[in-house]
Amino acid sequence: MKTVLITGGTRGIGKATAFVFASHGYQLALSYCTREDTAIKTKEEIEKEYGVNVMLVKADLSKEDEISKMVEDVYEKYPVLDCLVNNAGIAIDTLFEEKTKENFLKTLDVNLVGPFLLSRMVGDKMKDTGCGVIINVSSTSGLEMTYPESLDYDASKAGLISLTHNLANYYGKEIRVNAVAPGWVNTEMSQDLEKDFYKKQLSSILLERFAEPKEIGTAIYFLASEEASYINDTVLRVDGGVKR
Ligand SMILES: NC(=O)c1ccc[n+]([C@@H]2O[C@H](COP(=O)([O-])OP(=O)(O)OC[C@H]3O[C@@H](n4cnc5c(N)ncnc54)[C@H](OP(=O)(O)O)[C@@H]3O)[C@@H](O)[C@H]2O)c1
Repeated sequence: MKTVLITGGTRGIGKATAFVFASHGYQLALSYCTREDTAIKTKEEIEKEYGVNVMLVKADLSKEDEISKMVEDVYEKYPVLDCLVNNAGIAIDTLFEEKTKENFLKTLDVNLVGPFLLSRMVGDKMKDTGCGVIINVSSTSGLEMTYPESLDYDASKAGLISLTHNLANYYGKEIRVNAVAPGWVNTEMSQDLEKDFYKKQLSSILLERFAEPKEIGTAIYFLASEEASYINDTVLRVDGGVKR
């Protein structure tokens, strides 16, 4: 039975991704940071629907010791990890002129430095077993500038794409490393957008709607699957198409 570790796997895109992997028979390790009740509910829902093992791990990705402990705990339960999905992320939108060093660094820590540390810890173990797949959840905002309020988030997601290329080159033939770059997705992160801004975003998408989390989870699963065995070191946009 194959195993996947999905960070932030208990709600939003991570939860939808967990369901897709579970539907293909994977056993799961799902990390969360603060929302334990949500995590337990997700675990129960997946176990009920698919009957696979679901392990929950609490870890703040901005803390190296918590990442190390998570890796230790996951490998104690599952000796082999086939796939790592670096999904967890934060966006602290503030006016450009109000951006602080503290928030900038927090965003980089959670969205980029944490995934780097985790990928190296897991990647080294995957290399020992001779195979593995890593998928980073970036964003179209890592490919092009979005709006000044999102500067720190965009920088972290651009960094995640750079990390993808660097990991793919570092690990070579044993580990495939790819990224997905979603556009807007209907999750808590994209709720509460100001009405005019929401309309403007919607009008720039060819499919004229935001993605559902499952549509991103399906793309992530595809990149992890044997069907994508020759896809490596690349970024898959999942954004409904851009009006030009
Ligand atoms: N939604 C979009 O429109 C969109 C578009 C493009 C890319 N993305 C990317 O997709 C990924 C998932 O986004 P989402 O919309 O599903 O987000 P979400 O609904 O806000 O969920 C965020 C997840 O990250 C976890 N998390 C937050 N801070 C953390 C920390 N310090 N350490 C570890 N985990 C932490 C949360 O855990 P708790 O539940 O415990 O808080 C939660 O599971 C993110 O990387 C995001 O940047 C999202």
